[in-house]
Amino acid sequence: AAKMVKICCIGAGYVGGPTMAVIALKCPSIEVVVVDISATRIAAWNSDQLPIYEPGLEDVVKQCRGRNLFFSTDVEKHVCEADIIFVSVNTPTKTRGLGAGKAADLTYWESAARMIADVSKSDKIVVEKSTVPVKTAEAIEKILTHNSKGISYQILSNPEFLAEGTAIQDLFNPDRVLIGGRETPEGRKAVQALKEVYANWVPEDRIITSNLWSAELSKLAANAILAQRISSVNAISALCEATGANVSEVAYAVGKDSRIGPKFLNASVGFGGSCFQKDILNLVYICECNGLPEVATYWKQVIKINDYQKSRFVNRVVSSMFNTVSGKKIAVLGFAFKKDTGDTRETPAIDVCKGLLGDKAKISIYDPQVSADQIRRDLAMNKFDWDHPIHLQPTSPTAVKEVTVTWDAYEATKGAHGVCILTEWDEFKSLDYAKIYENMQKPAFIFDGRNVVDSEKLREIGFIVYSIGKPLDQWLKDMPAVA
Ligand code: NAI
Repeated sequence: AAKMVKICCIGAGYVGGPTMAVIALKCPSIEVVVVDISATRIAAWNSDQLPIYEPGLEDVVKQCRGRNLFFSTDVEKHVCEADIIFVSVNTPTKTRGLGAGKAADLTYWESAARMIADVSKSDKIVVEKSTVPVKTAEAIEKILTHNSKGISYQILSNPEFLAEGTAIQDLFNPDRVLIGGRETPEGRKAVQALKEVYANWVPEDRIITSNLWSAELSKLAANAILAQRISSVNAISALCEATGANVSEVAYAVGKDSRIGPKFLNASVGFGGSCFQKDILNLVYICECNGLPEVATYWKQVIKINDYQKSRFVNRVVSSMFNTVSGKKIAVLGFAFKKDTGDTRETPAIDVCKGLLGDKAKISIYDPQVSADQIRRDLAMNKFDWDHPIHLQPTSPTAVKEVTVTWDAYEATKGAHGVCILTEWDEFKSLDYAKIYENMQKPAFIFDGRNVVDSEKLREIGFIVYSIGKPLDQWLKDMPAVA
């Protein structure tokens, strides 16, 4: 029988964990080991309490763990034994030095590449799974070949397109799998080897191949264009509020055009997550480095509109409550950057809460999947610090004393002047709003940053309701937000 293929994945995060679990499930004849320098993360993967919340993930992990799926801190041993090495480490935005605030920080990537070169004793296929700047493969290739000790390395780019919250579904049934490689005989052979892994469950016509740079750039371009759709509809939402148009009606009508399509056109308080902003900043930086300032400015605007949308929301809250929230309790429902995940990286809730705290509000937060510790850490952290290892983060998050975190939406809203809905959790649609109204200060406000509640029903109860991009209540018209 052919030798069992061994895969090692460096980085047991939101990408490494779920992707490798699905490869292990779909390819029983491949041994998959996920390694990480974080011992606590690995311990969690080996426990009943997985380090990330993702619908369906636990089920997949339980089926394969200990069979052909393993989680280990013995990075060097498993890298040494593997035929294919995925690198799925974090690639945050640089916080200092050249390109600070824009360029991708490849420190973690480079150290992973040097470690691979150090410990390898046989030929390897090294797969970029992390989202990296265009031409990273060239840098990685240089590190590996200059330290190669006669071993041959093939670098592939295989960016991950999964979305958090639907990761398992996306991995089971991907729109496409993209593999970029060198256009040499050895390069083609490596592409073929990785293709065979995915072919265990992905239809052939959905596995597409390209050159390395196209694959790297496709991931940045896809995220930039996805984020751009959100900023486009959010920009329109501001105009809707000013004119009396309804953004849901507009988005529906626009999305009916088959060239545009209906998905990803929901107006909201803004996009979040670890990738959109970081990848666009990265794209902007690459454009600038390549002498394309006009292109850079074009994409930068996507982030500016997102920031505008968040501050517009805060302004709306403050202005409609007589221009001050000082000392008022504001309930925040939802802190994760979207539903069905506990991930809070770059969540718009951070900026909204900071904005309200800046106006001296007292906030009470409830999210079904985010811990109080996490929320406190997020609110204490500086921009861009969140994606760096835990030892660089504030160890004892300064207790923001105006913030309380509860495990119950009714507790959070009790005695509040206003409620801000910042994540589209399904459970927020079916809360007992009559009960919530009764226990709030009057007038009672609801600011729906995700357009999840039935505003007409809430108005019947007595609430003053703000929904993004929807016709305004008379109250809100009388108290215009200052931009
Ligand atoms: P993450 O931060 O959850 O996981 C990265 C892991 O790598 C951490 O556990 C860290 O301890 C580990 N690590 C760092 N350096 C290491 C080293 N030298 N040796 C061993 N382990 C090391 O990050 P996440 O979200 O999984 O993202 C990884 C990459 O995938 C990023 O480039 C991101 O842009 C990309 N991506 C993320 C998606 C998402 O939805 N989160 C989707 C598609 C791509």
